[in-house]
Order: sequence, then C-alpha cells, then structure tokens
Amino acid sequence: MTNDAPANAGNVVVVGATSSVARATAGEFARAGHGVILAARDMDANERMASDLRVRYETPVETVAFEADDLTEHAQLLERCQERADGPIDGIVFCAGFMDEQAAAQDGFAVAHRTIDVNYTAAVAVIEPFAAHFEERRSGFIAVLGSVAGDRGRQSNYIYGSAKAGLHAYLEGLRNRLFPADVFVTTVKPGFMDTKMSFGLPGLFLVMSPEAAGKAIYKAIHNRKNVAYVPWFWRYIMLIIRHVPEFVFKRMKM
Ligand SMILES: NC(=O)c1ccc[n+]([C@@H]2O[C@H](COP(=O)([O-])OP(=O)(O)OC[C@H]3O[C@@H](n4cnc5c(N)ncnc54)[C@H](OP(=O)(O)O)[C@@H]3O)[C@@H](O)[C@H]2O)c1
Repeated sequence: MTNDAPANAGNVVVVGATSSVARATAGEFARAGHGVILAARDMDANERMASDLRVRYETPVETVAFEADDLTEHAQLLERCQERADGPIDGIVFCAGFMDEQAAAQDGFAVAHRTIDVNYTAAVAVIEPFAAHFEERRSGFIAVLGSVAGDRGRQSNYIYGSAKAGLHAYLEGLRNRLFPADVFVTTVKPGFMDTKMSFGLPGLFLVMSPEAAGKAIYKAIHNRKNVAYVPWFWRYIMLIIRHVPEFVFKRMKM
C-alpha cells in the first residue's frame, strides 16, 4: 500500500466494481490519487462509473470485463489489468459476491454451485496470480470482502456462509504465505450493508451505507488490518455468536 500522496499512489484493481460498496471503495482510492481499474461483468455500468470517477477525482480509471462464471479467464485478469494500467498494479480489492435465498440454494444444486463459484472459486482463481505477482515484487496488497455469515453456519444462509468461511480460511493461509514478502492481505467481514444483495431481506439490523462501508474498507486496507469487521462492532457480535455452545446453537432459529 502506498501512502496518501498522489505522486506515490499506484494502481488498484477493484473486482465486482458495480457493487455499490465496491464503487464507494474505488472512490476512496481514486480520491487518494490512486489509478483504478474497474473489473465487472456489466461493462456499460462499469464505463459509466469509470467516467464518473475520472471527472470527480482526476485520476486514471480503466475498465476490464470480469465474468465470475468463466473460470478459464481468471488467470488472465492480472495481465488484462496490466495492459490497461498506467504503471504497476499495487493492489486488488475483490468485492464480487453472490447470494440467493437459502431455500433456492437448497433446491437442486444450481444456485448452491453458483454461490460457491462466485464467492469462493472465482476469488481464489483471480487472486492467486495477483498473489504470485506481488510476492515476486515483494510489495502489494490483497483485500477481499468475506462476510460475518462465514463466522458461523446458520440455517438461514449456510451455503453462502460456507463459501465465505472457505474464503476466510484461504485468506488466512495466503496472509501467512505472503507475510515474508511484505505483501499484506486484509479479510473484510461486513455485517449488513444497504446494497442490491441485501435489498428486501427480512430481519436486517445495524445496516451500514455503502459509502460508510467504502470508507471503512479503505481505512482497513490503509492501516494494513489482517481482519476488519465492518462496522467494527460486528467483531463483538460475532464473538458472542461464535461462543454459543453447539448443543444450544443447533436449537436456535437463526
Ligand atoms: N450486502 C451485505 O449485507 C453484505 C454483507 C456481507 C458481505 N457482503 C459481501 O460484500 C460484497 C459486495 O456485495 P454487495 O452487497 O455490494 O452486493 P451486490 O450489489 O450484489 O454486488 C455484488 C457484485 O458481484 C458481482 N457479481 C455477482 N455475480 C457475478 C458474476 N457471475 N460475474 C461477475 N460479477 C458478479 C455483481 O455484479 P452485477 O452488478 O453485474 O450483478 C456486483 O458487482 C460481496 O462479496 C458480498 O458477499 C455483502
């Protein structure tokens, strides 16, 4: 991670850029003078967002196409970003994710498969080449949006939660691998955020705006946090939830 001075700021890739949280996070990097490369499947929305960031922050903003389902393409994402970037890539923020209703994920394997592929498989496939590149350069950062849902399996969304739990374990190992190379890995664990994914879901509480989440994610990366709950108090909520004994937890409606 570079400092805040625009002259020293490098390029940051934001994957799943059409997420409102990703957009807000990209905005924070652009505001700090970083070049930004936006990767998303909806290229019209991606281009509109790039134009907006260029005008607002007068920083280079490029776009690349990213379709999480196309696993064969992921190894090339780094190269495609390098072709578009003016200078080296210094970091990646992986924000792509997918969640459907738990009932849909239980009904046949198609939705469960997509949930696992977008949240876990695509993340690993995209991040591994970035990890190798940063390790060789001995600098860079990787930040990924997991979820508090990955901290404990609950009947209401355990398929999504299990993909995020796998992602958390992957990032933990990656952090351990990259530490000697001075490459830092931040696992972001958001609570509820007011986005397209959570729209209309029942039982939401303590919902954070995408703008506030973007600021918190940027700050966590800037401060080289290992694991950042967003907002911070979810660390304590999840601490309590994780410590409920299993013989009690399995009887609860969550
Ligand atoms: N919202 C919450 O309460 C909450 C809580 C904890 C964690 N999270 C995590 O935060 C991250 C951002 O999510 P969000 O809340 O901003 O939801 P969102 O608006 O649905 O954003 C998800 C992003 O992933 C992209 N995506 C989904 N499937 C894809 C695919 N097959 N190929 C390429 N891109 C794909 C979406 O693209 P399109 O715009 O084209 O659909 C969008 O850019 C996700 O990892 C999510 O799991 C969210």
